[in-house]
Amino acid sequence: MAKTRAISIANSKGGVGKSTVTILLAAALAKQKNKKVLILDTDSQASISEWLVAEQQAYPDAKPLVSVEAIAPQHVQMYLEKFGDGYDVIFIDIPRMTNSMNETANVQLLYFCDSILIPVIGSRLDVMSTGKFFQVVKDAETKKRELGFEYQILGFLNKETNRKDNQYAKTMLSEQAGIDMMDATLRDLKLFTTPSLFDSILDTKEGRDRFEPFFNEVCKKLKL
Ligand SMILES: Nc1ncnc2c1ncn2[C@@H]1O[C@H](COP(=O)(O)OP(=O)(O)OP(=O)(O)O)[C@@H](O)[C@H]1O
Ligand SMILES: [Mg+2]
Repeated sequence: MAKTRAISIANSKGGVGKSTVTILLAAALAKQKNKKVLILDTDSQASISEWLVAEQQAYPDAKPLVSVEAIAPQHVQMYLEKFGDGYDVIFIDIPRMTNSMNETANVQLLYFCDSILIPVIGSRLDVMSTGKFFQVVKDAETKKRELGFEYQILGFLNKETNRKDNQYAKTMLSEQAGIDMMDATLRDLKLFTTPSLFDSILDTKEGRDRFEPFFNEVCKKLKL
């Protein structure tokens, strides 16, 4: 069996779509790529786990495409060791980082991953306020690669609306922060506001039109 992949959709900022895109990608990988997928929800607000409970109530007889465990950040390593082999892909949903970033246990979670996807909202203020986080992930990349581990960081624009600001964000991030920015973006759409752990967004035509370019680029770049 291929090595288990550990991926986090992470950003120090809140509300940028970390949990939403985690669910969308996890369900699509399970359904379209036949992967066994686990989400470790380390957010004390437990948004993905709560979403699962809400969906389970709505579809009592259905089985989710993806497993979800709500755990504390300090338990992630144990879960990866104990259950990692049973899954092809494990997503770690890391909460926003409000404290000094170098001290939080959440930074350590970035080191357990082999790939980090960074959702960015393309406004100037948002991009500037994320600078410190980019440095933290770049440090993780340097250290992991120094020791011979694979580590890939990909940025993408989420909730895309305004082309001019988005172009600015892409240029800033790739040229100044050294972040490899994806071509595909996710637009600001109602479609993305109700992601499901029971259905893949790629099973509807609108979902395919809006999500497939992003999904395909992620799979290609991360070799999933
Ligand atoms: N592409 C999108 N289009 C429209 N709405 C979106 C999109 N992505 C995320 N949202 C909405 O933005 C809000 C924040 O998303 P989400 O909870 O996934 O962010 P988060 O980064 O996980 O936040 P937190 O830091 O609180 O964990 C949600 O209401 C979600 O439905
Ligand atoms: Mg979240």
